[in-house]
Amino acid sequence: MITDNLTIFMAPMQGFTDAGYRSAHARLTGGVDTYCAPFVHLEHGEPRRRDLRDIAPEVNQGLTLLPQVLFRNVEELAVLTDAVTAQGYSHIDLNLGCPFPPQMKRGRGCGLLGRPEVMEDVARFVASRPELTFSVKMRLGADDPDQWKTIMPVINSMALKHVTIHPRIGIQQYGGELYMDSLTEFASRLHHPLVYNGDISTVGGALDIAAKLPGLSGIMIGRGLLARPTLASEIKSALSGEQRPTPTDAEEIAVLLDLHDEIYQQYTATLCGDAQLLSKIKPFWEYAGALLPHKAAKAIRKAGSVRNYERAVNDLRFYRG
Ligand SMILES: Cc1cc2nc3c(=O)[nH]c(=O)nc-3n(C[C@H](O)[C@H](O)[C@H](O)COP(=O)(O)O)c2cc1C
Repeated sequence: MITDNLTIFMAPMQGFTDAGYRSAHARLTGGVDTYCAPFVHLEHGEPRRRDLRDIAPEVNQGLTLLPQVLFRNVEELAVLTDAVTAQGYSHIDLNLGCPFPPQMKRGRGCGLLGRPEVMEDVARFVASRPELTFSVKMRLGADDPDQWKTIMPVINSMALKHVTIHPRIGIQQYGGELYMDSLTEFASRLHHPLVYNGDISTVGGALDIAAKLPGLSGIMIGRGLLARPTLASEIKSALSGEQRPTPTDAEEIAVLLDLHDEIYQQYTATLCGDAQLLSKIKPFWEYAGALLPHKAAKAIRKAGSVRNYERAVNDLRFYRG
């Protein structure tokens, strides 16, 4: 049975879902219950300052934010936990899913899935901090979709608020088949609330996955939400049985432009130089561009100066509903 109180999470995506994006999204379209921040990690042994700035409460006002940490052992986890709790957070998500080869090879992200002895240390650490709540975001394995079976006992032994599963393995990165059979087995063995993550890009896709996984507690959406920012509120409406017309492409482009304009304004106020500004704003269209007419998307992608970029975005206003 599909519950109408599924929690909707915005997936963390480094370089895309930063504080500016999250705040603008919450204000303009909503539908997301919890915004997941991209991981905080160590740089030269210290928590990266840019990561900490992104989770600072003053740039995340009014949002339910779930900060995340990327670590290779319990020593790194302890330093990162202190840095995140110092910002006032008491719920931390543990990244066991990052497939980026340099991190994976060093045993971080999904590199931890094949290290049950480190996971035992992590479980002891979690138990030693009862004042905090932890959750896990993971894949089925680094290079084998059965790898989760080795660490399932330790995952089940921890007091976790939820476990988010992306049913791929690390070497697939973000493409290729989803291991749905392994996912079903994973769900049946997990003792914690389950959050599903992977390739949800339509309301129908979200409802199908909720029907397939009875008792599902939440859905996490990344690229689908960047491509279609109203998707979370559309899913919420569908779950509550509300009859709401699906926004047309033109209406969706109008939402994208509003979102873009707010984020662009923040960047123009804080960044200087065409190259810096363009390198920060162009990723906005990487997934959002799917809805744009081909010519408009190409003009934005090719713009080599702020003047050409703004002209290309302004041309897009012609298409809005
Ligand atoms: C560019 C990029 C950056 C990402 N950054 C993070 C991250 O910081 N932490 C994390 O747990 N997952 C990260 N992910 C994975 C996403 O959170 C999500 O699991 C993945 O995109 C699959 O979900 P989707 O199909 O809904 O996009 C990232 C993915 C991409 C493509």
